[in-house]
Amino acid sequence: MSTIQTNPQALIDGQYKTDKELNVRQSFNDLFEPKIHLDTEILKRLPNNKDISILDVGCGSGNTLMFLRERGYTEKMVGIDISEGIMKKGIDLSEKYALAFQQATAEDLPFDENAFDVVIARHVLYHVDDISLAIQEIHRVLKPTGVFIITLNSFENKPVMLKLRQFVKEKFDIGMIRNEERIGTLPIQEYLSSLFDFEYTELSNSLHLATPDKLAEYFNTYQNTGEPIPSHKKWQTIMNDVKNYLQSLIDENPDLMEKNVASITLAKPKRI
Ligand SMILES: C[S@@+](CC[C@H](N)C(=O)[O-])C[C@H]1O[C@@H](n2cnc3c(N)ncnc32)[C@H](O)[C@@H]1O
Repeated sequence: MSTIQTNPQALIDGQYKTDKELNVRQSFNDLFEPKIHLDTEILKRLPNNKDISILDVGCGSGNTLMFLRERGYTEKMVGIDISEGIMKKGIDLSEKYALAFQQATAEDLPFDENAFDVVIARHVLYHVDDISLAIQEIHRVLKPTGVFIITLNSFENKPVMLKLRQFVKEKFDIGMIRNEERIGTLPIQEYLSSLFDFEYTELSNSLHLATPDKLAEYFNTYQNTGEPIPSHKKWQTIMNDVKNYLQSLIDENPDLMEKNVASITLAKPKRI
């Protein structure tokens, strides 16, 4: 079980205050090959019938729910997120897509027992303060016949980014929070195994870093994860040095690749 703490208020006030940074990160991930479309991976794991109710925990801007609505799912669809700001796009489009959004935490879901056929947590669980409690809550609101679909980045995700974080730590004495470390590659098992049977699939792809630009743009979305958070001026200095450092890594190795290592887990409540 993770002993690394997360800071929910810092997520709300910082990197998930709006969906701006998330969108830049998504566009960067879209450059990797082979293409991995997480919502399609989620769709493949849903039950066949379309009249199923769906809860998206840590729904961000609500894109996954909109994607599923467009594919003919007809029943209740609800998104919750700890940050109200990040749900703005979904809230603005909620009438068009017949979606409901609510500010709530995964550890205290505002729903009755057995309320949903499907619960999704897409790149969320490592941010949650009490992961075991969140999984108990998801189990409680899920029907015994339901499915829980989890996607996560793994601890091995983006090794070049990790080098950039280490560079910033060594040169500027600024740590950069990396919540992936709170779960790692497979330990999701530890959290699930008492309540769920599950099937885990690794999803990985890579990107050749021919120039520093794209990864630097991605790195730039992480200012708010700094401990302490650097001022705007200091961040400009950091970004300048990060770009130069990244260029030196590319000069040393013109074949430099960044790698995404993620996973999708299909979990079903155990018959107890
Ligand atoms: C990486 S984003 C993923 C957003 C969305 N699921 C997606 O895949 O685009 C993580 C999301 O989890 C939310 N989050 C973090 N901790 C949470 C918690 N304890 N309860 C609910 N949502 C949380 C964040 O506000 C953020 O929107």
